[in-house]
Amino acid sequence: MYREKAIEKMKGYFQEDRFIEHTLKVLARAEQICEGERIDDAFILQVATLGSIFHDIGIPEALKKHSSMEAPYQEQEGPPVARRLMNEEGVRPDILERVCYIVGYHHTADKVDGLDFQVIWEADFIVNIDEGNIVLEPGEVERSVDENLKTETARVLIREVL
Ligand SMILES: [Fe+2]
Repeated sequence: MYREKAIEKMKGYFQEDRFIEHTLKVLARAEQICEGERIDDAFILQVATLGSIFHDIGIPEALKKHSSMEAPYQEQEGPPVARRLMNEEGVRPDILERVCYIVGYHHTADKVDGLDFQVIWEADFIVNIDEGNIVLEPGEVERSVDENLKTETARVLIREVL
């Protein structure tokens, strides 16, 4: 498992507490979802783990090159960085490619095309609600939760932060 080394890579790359803390919260939520859903497919588990750890890795380059951390810039800048960091750790090519795909579309709902991506999407959604990065109006909570969260586990976990 690449988990610990990937966490060290991510921390060393970000060197900024707010990004590191957000990432670790997303990883923890993703792991809760995987456990709650009883996911035992090794590929899905590895991708969900690495994808959580690297999902926001494009932010520093987005800020440097575009002075913005808007979603399209994060998605554009993230995959090359994720690829480099995972290559340095010798991550298996099929896992690496799948993680790069997810990093490159992690703000694009209609690109979510599998349980591995769905887990990361849900984990990030829960943490972004918790951190106030996404603010839902009272009238849109039900619809938004329904649209973004497909797993039973995530639909239970979201209640902790609403
Ligand atoms: Fe995030």
